[in-house]
Amino acid sequence: MWTFVALLLLLLLHLSLALLSNGDELLFVQALWRHGDRAPANTYPKDLYQESAWPQGWGQLSAAGMEQCFNLGAQLRAMYSPHFISSIYNSNEVYVRSTDYDRALMSAMSVMAGLFPAGTAGVHYPSASAVPNWPYHWSPIPIHALDFAGNHILNPFANCPRAAQLLANIQRSALYRKIALEKQPLFNFLTVNTGMRVSLGSGIHTLQDALLIEKTNKMKNPDWLNETVSNEISNLTLIFHNFNFGLLPEVMPEMIKFRGGSLLKTIISDMQVKLLCLQNNPNASSACRAHARRKFYGYSAHDTTLTALLTTFDLYHLLEKGLPGYAACILVELWKTKNGPQVKILYRSSFDVPFLPITSLINGCPPNSDYCPFTLFVRRSQKYMPTDIDVECRMMH
Ligand SMILES: *[C@@H]1O[C@H](CO)[C@@H](O)[C@H](O)[C@H]1NC(C)=O
Ligand SMILES: *[C@@H]1O[C@H](CO)[C@@H](O)[C@H](O)[C@H]1NC(C)=O
Ligand SMILES: *[C@@H]1O[C@H](CO)[C@@H](O)[C@H](O)[C@H]1NC(C)=O
Repeated sequence: MWTFVALLLLLLLHLSLALLSNGDELLFVQALWRHGDRAPANTYPKDLYQESAWPQGWGQLSAAGMEQCFNLGAQLRAMYSPHFISSIYNSNEVYVRSTDYDRALMSAMSVMAGLFPAGTAGVHYPSASAVPNWPYHWSPIPIHALDFAGNHILNPFANCPRAAQLLANIQRSALYRKIALEKQPLFNFLTVNTGMRVSLGSGIHTLQDALLIEKTNKMKNPDWLNETVSNEISNLTLIFHNFNFGLLPEVMPEMIKFRGGSLLKTIISDMQVKLLCLQNNPNASSACRAHARRKFYGYSAHDTTLTALLTTFDLYHLLEKGLPGYAACILVELWKTKNGPQVKILYRSSFDVPFLPITSLINGCPPNSDYCPFTLFVRRSQKYMPTDIDVECRMMH
């Protein structure tokens, strides 16, 4: 009995500390994560390891990937539950979307399994007498799949003629041509040894992806690959990404808007709706009443998606060592504070590093605080947010 009371007191103390420590109140969390460890998306024709080398084939999530995502869910639980989101899945509070890729969908399911490992048999999942083999404490949680090809929110490379035009301009630039020329002997070497055309514009990232994942899985590297060549491939892949994401003064900020602006705009407008719907307006629509109860949006996506969002924060230096790793995650928190609504952003670049606040690194946000006033955040983001992406994608110059 006394143990119980003591535990209850401890729990209450913990709750009040979490909620009231400085009067700030967490209102809304949007989490964007990359899927976990996977098979290569593809490989080069002369690779020893073709699709049959991978248990589920190209691009599929591995058991290690499921574990990384489950652990991400457990970490989110430690950060947000039970003082913010309920310890048992509540359909009013949580909404998860994913790209329509197997690995992203399976990652989202794994994250949710880690976030909500509890529940009551016979209520949240069938009782043991009804289904003896039901997985331990697991309850199904809906994941909403979004079409990928034409979706500017989660696919930075969705069809956009103007972005294609900007990329063509980049590829005609002096810098691009200089690197392409300088590295031509290497590209020839790679083309001969891989059996596919490798250049600064294509093939290089496929090659890097396959070689890196094979190495992680302790597979044998090809004889032609030594450390120098391997470093060159990594370096050129980074350069390839910088060009593709538009990290060049002459195409900024327009290219960043096309790659990550739609996601930034969605994240901001969902925070605006949240603030509006919390104002207890009796005339609020039923959609608004639903939104007022929403606490957590999850987005399950890809390294390119996280990269595109980081570029809208002007955080290019976080990408210097490569794109975000497996189960990397960006958290956008909306807080109610005595100084009005504020945004706090946290990031971990991979499954094996802790979350760190990055708000103070964002251009236009206060450099000495983990919080950015919401209005200021919206203002500094304006130049990256499309007004009408479809119209802007058609505006050729
Ligand atoms: C690595 O391989 C390349 C291409 O075969 C060769 O030119 C270079 O000398 C090699 N470097 C080392 C350190 O072995
Ligand atoms: C990467 O390649 C660029 C362009 O060729 C070169 O300027 C740079 O020194 C290289 N960096 C490394 C770390 O090899
Ligand atoms: C709700 O709607 C009524 C009728 O249109 C209007 O008079 C009232 O001011 C509205 N209340 C709020 C809080 O907007």
